[in-house]
Amino acid sequence: MPSPPLLEVRDLHVQFPTPTGVIEAVAGVSFTVAAGETVAVVGESGSGKSVSSLAVLGLLGGGRVTAGSIRFAGGELVGADAERLRRLRGAEIAMVFQNPMSSLDPLFTVGDQVAEALRAHRPLTRKDAQRRVVELLREVGLPDPQRRARSYPHELSGGQQQRVMVAIGLACEPALLIADEPTTALDVTVEAQILALLRRMQREHGTALLFITHDMGVVAEMADHVLVMYAGRVVEQGPVAEVLSAPRNPYTRALIDSIPTPTTPRDAPMPAIAGTVPHPSEMPGGCRFHPRCPSALDRCATGEPQLYDLGPGRASRCWLHEVDAPVNEEEVSGVG
Ligand SMILES: Nc1ncnc2c1ncn2[C@@H]1O[C@H](COP(=O)(O)OP(=O)(O)OP(=O)(O)O)[C@@H](O)[C@H]1O
Ligand SMILES: [Mg+2]
Repeated sequence: MPSPPLLEVRDLHVQFPTPTGVIEAVAGVSFTVAAGETVAVVGESGSGKSVSSLAVLGLLGGGRVTAGSIRFAGGELVGADAERLRRLRGAEIAMVFQNPMSSLDPLFTVGDQVAEALRAHRPLTRKDAQRRVVELLREVGLPDPQRRARSYPHELSGGQQQRVMVAIGLACEPALLIADEPTTALDVTVEAQILALLRRMQREHGTALLFITHDMGVVAEMADHVLVMYAGRVVEQGPVAEVLSAPRNPYTRALIDSIPTPTTPRDAPMPAIAGTVPHPSEMPGGCRFHPRCPSALDRCATGEPQLYDLGPGRASRCWLHEVDAPVNEEEVSGVG
């Protein structure tokens, strides 16, 4: 029997109360991440990427998991008590977010903050912690780590701050690192450096990576497996090379067509897909993508397609597959 995946998310549903009623931000998402593997989650703004990963960490704020299961290293996290989740975060599952400045505390030196991450989960003397801090800052490529450890966050560049966040994330050698758009706030050169750093860390420490991005170019560079999300659902998944070379879902195709070229301004909107992801309170009937889909048929407006099994590890949610493949939700939900 193959060993169970490190992370196994099954049929996850997440709801938030809002002033105008309860919304469902994530509606039946399933995926797995094996030890040492990189899984990318890609999709436009509002597709449910962050909410899916925050659910894993138990950081939904006012939101809650209303159905489904999240198993990490064999243990169920849905319904786990706050203390268990707190111990898990940082020690076994670490995270790096988009904006390092909002994650770092301006009042403490970066060395103190890395040390705190170390000491939160491990008994270390102050001196050993300091030594390890300098090692970690060196490992993530900060120049003059001894001196940098005594710097305050505002004294570092955005790229250096994100390196500190990676050091904090890796301080306890987690089995899984969740990176949510870790390079979106950085310029292209620094982005390339941080992506290279994450890949090296992963190779050296065998860390599994759940990598969230809206950029298909980054997916190609980073991941083994990709999960394409749209409006709270998975619409396509599969090995990166296959999905990128032969996307089966019209939404994936549109995302790939919108990969920026070197001349595209970095914060330009995606050119290929007109319109935006519908808000959960205004979900269209039928296929959630049909109002924007260049291939939409009449039936796309009335019924929502299942995820169709398209071969080992591949699945896509589109009526166009009905002639190609039988529905097999059970089997494809094991994809990871
Ligand atoms: N705390 C919250 N309260 C109410 N609605 C929320 C909350 N957090 C997220 N949502 C809604 O859930 C949906 C999914 O949001 P999510 O943040 O997961 O998107 P995303 O794919 O990460 O987008 P982005 O690329 O902008 O980060 C959105 O419609 C969003 O408005
Ligand atoms: Mg997000």
